[in-house]
Amino acid sequence: MKHFLDINKTAPDDLRAMIDSAAAMKTARNGRPKGTPDDTQPLSGHMVALIFEKPSTRTRVSFDVGVRQMGGQTMVLSGSDMQLGHGETIADTARVLSRYVDLIMIRTFEEATLLEMAEYADVPVINGLTNRSHPCQIMADIMTFEEHRGSIAGKKVVWAGDGNNVFASFAHAAGQFGFDLTFTGPETLDPEKGFLDEARAKGSKIEIERNPQKAVEGADLVVTDTWVSMHDSPSSRERRHNQLRPYQVNQELMSHARTDALFMHCLPAHRDEEATSAIMDGPHSVIFDEAENRLHAQKAVMRWCLGV
Ligand code: CP
Repeated sequence: MKHFLDINKTAPDDLRAMIDSAAAMKTARNGRPKGTPDDTQPLSGHMVALIFEKPSTRTRVSFDVGVRQMGGQTMVLSGSDMQLGHGETIADTARVLSRYVDLIMIRTFEEATLLEMAEYADVPVINGLTNRSHPCQIMADIMTFEEHRGSIAGKKVVWAGDGNNVFASFAHAAGQFGFDLTFTGPETLDPEKGFLDEARAKGSKIEIERNPQKAVEGADLVVTDTWVSMHDSPSSRERRHNQLRPYQVNQELMSHARTDALFMHCLPAHRDEEATSAIMDGPHSVIFDEAENRLHAQKAVMRWCLGV
């Protein structure tokens, strides 16, 4: 069973093959209308369940469109509408869904839910985000970096802000794709040490630098994310904003990075909070390529899971 649960749980050769496959599928579509099918229809006859226990724009639409372009069918399910939200166990839900569908993508809160789904499903399960990681996003980000700048191996990536679930998948990717990663943010919002240690053990240079200007020196890529994630308490908003304001990505901060540095944000963004509109809409930014590449990268992930 080939589940796609996290980047650090997937072999580097498989990750590389998925990125290359995604790029090839993007090229093959060559600007054709989005609703037209791909030349090959590898998901023909396949049914895919897309389960959302949290809101989503990009993940929901890109998975749905991707399946359809590859000839498959989808059903989009909200956790609260399913028995999942009314006491049925994850294990039983996984066993039942496996009788109906060929692939499950789930966006949920706790990592334990994803892992239980994968343990009891007889079909592949894809992590569409948990409170702990967001691997599909970072597959799209790696693809985006490489289509603009070539191989990400040996490059310097700087994350500014909250050491959240999206950062965790960047740390996983640093170890697997061989790039260096610097975290700059307040100590109270540091990422889990284990994520950093694992990437270091694989040979990546992983640093924490509290001074954001110093952190971005020599950066090939600067990344940030919202200051209050979906799983954070709304009451923490003011405290988080006060702590994170010095780490806003703005023109002054970007001026310390390489002149050809890229800027990424997984979106949705709170403009002029974690990043200014001048940066988001400026020459460094590739945020909408990132959003588009969710589609292509996830098509490659689904094909890998299904072996088609
Ligand atoms: N980046 C991301 O996962 O976007 P959505 O929450 O809209 O799916």
